This record gives sequence, C-alpha cells and structure tokens, in this order.
Amino acid sequence: EDFLARGRVLKGKHVIVTAGGTRENIDPVRFIGNRSSGKMGIALANAAAQAGAKVTLIAGQITVPLPQSPAIEVVRVTTTEDLYTNLKERFLQTDILIMAAAVADYRPVEMVDHKIKKKDGDPRLTIALTETVDILKNIAKMKQNDQCVVGFAAETNNLMENANRKLASKNVDMIIANSVAGKTSAFGSDQNQVTILQKDKPPIKLERQSKAKIANKIIELVSAKLKSGD
Ligand code: CTP
Ligand code: CA
Repeated sequence: EDFLARGRVLKGKHVIVTAGGTRENIDPVRFIGNRSSGKMGIALANAAAQAGAKVTLIAGQITVPLPQSPAIEVVRVTTTEDLYTNLKERFLQTDILIMAAAVADYRPVEMVDHKIKKKDGDPRLTIALTETVDILKNIAKMKQNDQCVVGFAAETNNLMENANRKLASKNVDMIIANSVAGKTSAFGSDQNQVTILQKDKPPIKLERQSKAKIANKIIELVSAKLKSGD
C-alpha cells in the first residue's frame, strides 16, 4: 500500500478494469449468469485509483457495493456484447486494461421475446447456445507497445498449464491465475490465492491473502512494466 500511496506511480495514467459477471438473456425473465462477485475487480479499481490513476470500472453483475470515488468512473453493462462495445470505445485511450470480469462463454442463439412456458407432457427443455466473442483476445490484438493488458485465468484443474496457454494465445502481458475449485475457490471470498504469469519471467506465486493486497501487488507489477516499456 505504501508503494502505491507514496509513489503516485500511476499519476496521469488511465486504467480500465472490468469486473463482475456478464449475463446472457434467455427470455425476458431469465438469464445465464455466473458466480462472480466482482470483488477482485473492485479491489483492482481501488488500488489503481490509490496509485493516482484515472480509473474506469466497467462492471457487470456484482454482489457488493460499487466504489464511491471521484477517481473511479463506473460504467454498468449486462451482456458480453455490451461489455465488448463499451470496452472497444475506450481501449485506445487507456494505458492499462485489467480484464477481471467473468465473461460468459456461451449465450443463447436467440433471445425469446416472450416468457418461455412449460409444455405439457415433455419435461425437457433445450436451449441452443453459441460462443460469445472472446473480448480479451480481440481487444489485445489492438494493443500498442505502450499499453499493458492483464487477463485472468479461472481454472478448476491444470491451473498452470491452462493459464500459460492463455498468456500466449491472448497476447496479454500478464495472466493472474486463480483456482475456482472447491473450498479454496475465489468466488465470493474476500481472499484469493493467485499466481502471476508474465512473458519471459518466472511465475510469481502469492500467498493466500486479501484481494485488496493482491490488487496492490498486481498494480505494482503493472506500473513497473509500463515504466520499463517492455
Ligand atoms: N474473457 C473474455 N471474453 C470471453 C471469455 C473470457 O474477455 N468471452 C477473458 C476473461 O475476462 C479473462 C480471460 O479472458 O480475463 C480468461 O478467461 P477464462 O474464463 O479463464 O478463459 P477462457 O478463455 O474463457 O477459456 P475457458 O473458460 O474455457 O477456460
Ligand atoms: Ca471462460
């Protein structure tokens, strides 16, 4: 915390953080969602603001209060497409993007315009799904040399292998790998245990600790990266 407060290392920089889960509509009353609380993203927005940055927090569904800080502009979104549209508009003007949102991987092929009714005699319901756009992958394609993009990797198994693959395939500078399996799951918790992966650097495995402390560490690393320019 000292490092961030003392240094004001991100003064004059613009940071975008995405947080929370996206929702995909099935019909006017139902949606597909996920267990993201938004806490990690909010902690990151707070840490960046504390470091002196101007922050835009693009928030999907969250289960905790939004930050109330003059340094943090909040944009609310619902669907993955929504999030993508809002991010595309803002990405070129940002120095740092941290993609902490839990983005839906699939959405219904079509949103039914009326409430789906139960059918007599047939207990099954099939909803056809199609892949959503991979926001991070598409946005990172536009990344300039002076921009830093951070992604997350939520895994239940083969954490390092899967996270390393995401680091390479999504053209990001950093992947924050966290387990979402079982009792140690990050979902909803105030704590998390993450490993930070960067290109050409050894992984940094952090102790289990508060999301606020992890956020400070991530902002510290990102700031160092921006400064070094590689
Ligand atoms: N992400 C994204 N758009 C998607 C899906 C994911 O931008 N449609 C982002 C997430 O915000 C996260 C990173 O990509 O920063 C990795 O998300 P994750 O769910 O761990 O990986 P996926 O690439 O979706 O692959 P899978 O869920 O199959 O592990
Ligand atoms: Ca996913």
